[in-house]
Amino acid sequence: MAKKIGILTGGGDCPGLNPAIRGCAMRAFDFGYECVGLLEGWKGLVKGNTMPLGLQDVADIIGKGGTILGTSRTNPFKQEGSVPQCLENFKKLGLDALVAMGGEDTLGVASRFYSEYKIPIVGVPKTMDNDLSATDYTFGFDTATTIAVDAAERLKDTGRSHRRVMILEVMGRHAGWVALFTALAGAADWVCIPEFPVDVKKMCDHIKKAHERNKVALVVASEAITIGREKVEEEQLDEFGHMLLKKRGVGERLAEIIERETKLETRASVIGHIQRGGSPTLFDRILGTRVGVKAAELAQEGKFGEMVALRGNVVVGVSLKEATAQLKIVPESWKQLAEIFFK
Ligand code: F6P
Repeated sequence: MAKKIGILTGGGDCPGLNPAIRGCAMRAFDFGYECVGLLEGWKGLVKGNTMPLGLQDVADIIGKGGTILGTSRTNPFKQEGSVPQCLENFKKLGLDALVAMGGEDTLGVASRFYSEYKIPIVGVPKTMDNDLSATDYTFGFDTATTIAVDAAERLKDTGRSHRRVMILEVMGRHAGWVALFTALAGAADWVCIPEFPVDVKKMCDHIKKAHERNKVALVVASEAITIGREKVEEEQLDEFGHMLLKKRGVGERLAEIIERETKLETRASVIGHIQRGGSPTLFDRILGTRVGVKAAELAQEGKFGEMVALRGNVVVGVSLKEATAQLKIVPESWKQLAEIFFK
């Protein structure tokens, strides 16, 4: 009987997941494996919900946004009785291996299933936040940031016409990579990221200067920055203990502060989930494809407990446990690079 690989996608979706599913399945077919998709992340394993992943299901999905498998932020380790259900369903479905595609949360669960229950798992990193320390880039980031740069340019056009300060609030959770790259590539006048406190006076002084010169000033703000003190209520946390950042609205709050301090008319826009939709860029299609292929190869070689990672231009396997131990946040040197352009 053919060996069977289960594939799941968990956490926030991002462009590049379908290329990765396709890459993994197409390579697995080379080894004579049958592939099956688990629906909506870990929830699919808890409930035993699947869909077939045959050649006709994956052959032409490389340009599709989202994930054909659906996703959720289900954490079986946080729901009573879910872990035994996962173990039982793994057996019932006749799976020989599991490929889990996700960010730190989904892969953290994968790592626990491997180390605590010896489930044969391979991880594939995905996140538009680009915050996984073991890999140089994650697919999803390039597409999301390309969309944000386009939004930044549009905001500058309208801002210039009205002589306004424009704020673009982007996603990225606790890492400022999306905001930083958007600011750099979109020629922004300031960037606020969660790794560093917002220096309101310095920012406003510079905005006034840039506005005088350009008749517009653009500030890119990452969703998780802290302005002043803030209490995080219990109900604002998801199953993985992360803040539900949609409730915070930092762009609007930043706009109030900037308008008050500079006396310049200011408007804020939140790009939000628009960043996660649409067709993946060339970079994300190729990266998704490569890491998907490598995941199937690791499974075939029996290298479980590993995660696929991009190191330089080479795709390698690294330990899942180490890969999920630490977040990759923006270091001082990248912030300094951005500051070169705030003149
Ligand atoms: O982790 C990816 C991400 O897009 C973050 O940048 C953002 O904070 C979060 O997901 C949004 O999650 P949801 O889709 O559950 O609102």
